[in-house]
Amino acid sequence: MRKKIVAGNWKMNKTFQDAEELLAFIAESIEKKPSCEVVACPPSIYLELATDFALDSNLFVGAQNVSQFESGAYTGEISAAMLDSVDVDYCIVGHSERRKYFHESDEVLAQKVDKLLDHNIIPIFCCGEQLEDREKESYFDVVKMQLKNGVFHLNKNEFGNLVIAYEPIWAIGTGRTATPAQAQEMHNFIRNLITKEYGKETAGNTTILYGGSCNPGNARELFSQNDVDGGLIGGASLKGEEFIKIVNSF
Ligand code: 13P
Repeated sequence: MRKKIVAGNWKMNKTFQDAEELLAFIAESIEKKPSCEVVACPPSIYLELATDFALDSNLFVGAQNVSQFESGAYTGEISAAMLDSVDVDYCIVGHSERRKYFHESDEVLAQKVDKLLDHNIIPIFCCGEQLEDREKESYFDVVKMQLKNGVFHLNKNEFGNLVIAYEPIWAIGTGRTATPAQAQEMHNFIRNLITKEYGKETAGNTTILYGGSCNPGNARELFSQNDVDGGLIGGASLKGEEFIKIVNSF
C-alpha cells in the first residue's frame, strides 16, 4: 500500500544514552498520530530498545542492514529472523554506503531482499546514481539496472511489500539536495519502470522515498511532488527537533 513515510537512518551514530533520549523525544512528539508513518533506523544494537518504544507509541522501527544468510557460522552478522524476533518492521537494503564500503553486489542485495520478505520485514531498497553518472546523463540507466538486479526478480505479490528509496549519491551528506524537479523526474521514472514490470496498480501502490540532504527547509517542497512519498533522512534525523519538523512537513 502506498504510504507517506519519513524514516531516519541514524547510520553509525549515538551512544545508548543518546539513542534512548532521541527515541523518547520522537515517540513523545508523535503521540498525536502524525500525517505520515515515522520510522527510526538506529544501529542494530539499539533495535530492541527502539521496538520497546514502538510498543507504546506510533513509532515504527527499521534496521540498517541484514545478512543474506538464514543462520549459522557468519560471525558478526544479524539475520532477518533475528530482526523479526525483536519486532523490527523495516530494513534498509542497498544503501550506497554499504555498496561502497562493504562491496555489496546487486546479487547479494537481491538475496537480502528475499530474506527480509521471508520474515515479513519490509525492505527499504535504496538506489541512486553517482555524480559522474548524472553528468554523463546515464543516471536513468544506473537506477534501472539497480532495480532490475536488486528487486525485479520478485513476483507481483512480493514486490507489493517493498519500499523504494531514491538517494542520489552526490546528495548524501553533502548539503547538495536534488531539486524537487530532479527528485520528481527520477521518482516518476522509477514508477514507470514498476508499471512496465508489474502494472499500473502495483506502481500506484508503491511508496518511493527521497534521500539526500533532506532537511526542515526543503522537505515540504520535495514531499509535495507527485511521486515523492516521503524521505529517508540521514544527518537531520540525529537531531530530534529537525527530524520532527521534517515529519510535520506533509
Ligand atoms: P543525509 O540526509 O545525511 O544526506 O543522508 C541521506 C541518507 O543517506 C539516508 O539514508
